[in-house]
Amino acid sequence: MFITFEGPEGSGKTTQFQRVVAALQAVGVDVLATREPGGTLIGEQVRDILLNRPEGAAMAPEAEALLFSAARAQHVREVIRPALAAGRTVLCDRFYDSTLAYQGYGHGLDLTALRQITTFATGGLRPDITIYLDCPPEVGLGRKQSQAELNRLDRLALDFHRRVYAGYQAMMQQEPERWVAVDATPGPDEVFARIVAALRLRGLRL
Ligand code: TYD
Repeated sequence: MFITFEGPEGSGKTTQFQRVVAALQAVGVDVLATREPGGTLIGEQVRDILLNRPEGAAMAPEAEALLFSAARAQHVREVIRPALAAGRTVLCDRFYDSTLAYQGYGHGLDLTALRQITTFATGGLRPDITIYLDCPPEVGLGRKQSQAELNRLDRLALDFHRRVYAGYQAMMQQEPERWVAVDATPGPDEVFARIVAALRLRGLRL
């Protein structure tokens, strides 16, 4: 089983991700928890180029899409596919839907080209379930209090984040069987309870 987590900035995605990982481990599921961009030594270096360096401000959106995809290609081959082949349950904080949402809908890159790049990068691997933490950008960005909490992409204009948000809604409508949307605006315990309920409905024991 390959489960990914998606959501806009400030949706509490990473907190919920960690709670779900812990809950699955507590009932004895063999979980591999990983994240994008990153998840490998090569991928973490690419992450640094993408998110942390001042020169990133000059990065062309096409270069950005290819770097996220390069990190993903390494991640799939080095970590995700071997874990799935060993029968482990893989949980990944962000995956290719982020590229479609941010570089596609957000920056306006061609979605057909991005899907082809994504298929090349992943070798066609797709998540079984994608948990989407639904949180409007006005709410999510407001939750990030200080500039220090914001990475290069977080700092882009509200318009960009609105396009990302609309992009996620569009992708969910195109593939409703894969996505599980959970309202991320209530408190963290309530959001977690809803995720657990949704995963149980999909046959996960936790
Ligand atoms: P991260 O600090 O992991 O933030 P978050 O908690 O929001 O996941 O930063 C990842 C950033 O990279 C986030 O702003 C989304 C962006 N991103 C893309 O633009 N494209 C991608 O393909 C991926 C994986 C992430």
